[in-house]
Amino acid sequence: MTDPKHWRSTHARIANGPVVPQQLIGGTPMIDLSEFSANPKVKIYGKCEYLNPSGSIKDRIAQEILARALETGELKAGMTVVAATSGNTGAAIAMACAIRGFPYIVITNQKTSKEKIDAMRAYGGEVIVAPSGVPADHPDHYQNIEATMCAKNPKFYGVNQYDNPYNADAYEKTLGPEIWSQTEGAVTHFVAGGSTGGTITGTGRYLKSVDPTIKIVLADPKGSVLWDYFVNDIPEEELVAKSWEVEGVGKDSIPGVLDTEYIDGAVMGDDSSSFRMVRTVAESSGVLLGGSSGLNLHAARVLSSHIKEGTIVTVLCDSGVKYLSKIYNDEWLQ
Ligand SMILES: Cc1ncc(COP(=O)(O)O)c(C=O)c1O
Repeated sequence: MTDPKHWRSTHARIANGPVVPQQLIGGTPMIDLSEFSANPKVKIYGKCEYLNPSGSIKDRIAQEILARALETGELKAGMTVVAATSGNTGAAIAMACAIRGFPYIVITNQKTSKEKIDAMRAYGGEVIVAPSGVPADHPDHYQNIEATMCAKNPKFYGVNQYDNPYNADAYEKTLGPEIWSQTEGAVTHFVAGGSTGGTITGTGRYLKSVDPTIKIVLADPKGSVLWDYFVNDIPEEELVAKSWEVEGVGKDSIPGVLDTEYIDGAVMGDDSSSFRMVRTVAESSGVLLGGSSGLNLHAARVLSSHIKEGTIVTVLCDSGVKYLSKIYNDEWLQ
């Protein structure tokens, strides 16, 4: 039950011999989406995170979290991995468990698309679907279900992606360096939505360590509490979440992983700007993306109109295939 050491090879996709499945994680290509820039002097590049093997950016954290938990002995043979998730971490954990022979239980909520729920089950584990729209401190909130289950059973390893420091570490070690290298240091801005805050925190931490002038910008859907917390300085205990439909981004409470020290600004989006954006990208560029990529691209476009020049990099977190019954279904959209 050890992990191969060199799983982060950026050349795994074109290696001459066979690779182990972990080597398919990360090393994603970057595509030029500057046609969506509002300013000809600002480039917009998107990292194709939907090409990760379970279909999202979350393979990076599942790999890091399980590898580190095995190293430290927090996770041992005979244990079951338990994870609360808006869906993508669940599929990534399910895949990572299947590779290593661990049983898993993932807990999501009713907002999650059927495609994502089916994918979480497909790797052979259990999926619990909790209600959506319940307050963050309610016992039926999907995160609290994970905490309660793990407190009761010492044979459960709780991933706790919202507070697990290995989450942001994964991006600091992989996504940040990839962006720096693929832009040859030309990146001036990084834009990402936040749920756990792992992507923006870890990538921000790396990019600022190599060039402190790089600006890190949060994209947040209307209704999420991250905006009020970061932009309006509203104390955590006074935050009130509303509802939104874009999956995987925005939050109803402040996750422990999110470190706003690395964030310089924020752009708000909403369901309609996000969904319109991905439908346009699909039709005009042939790239089928999930809703959070639409939020990110919308925010990158708004940002491009506020800066004189630069190179904005954002993340295309998952594929539109995960939302065919929703974003790409005209009846659902209405
Ligand atoms: C589709 C999608 N986009 C973006 C994110 C946000 O990433 P993070 O949790 O690193 O803030 C998630 C997280 O679940 C996601 O599923």
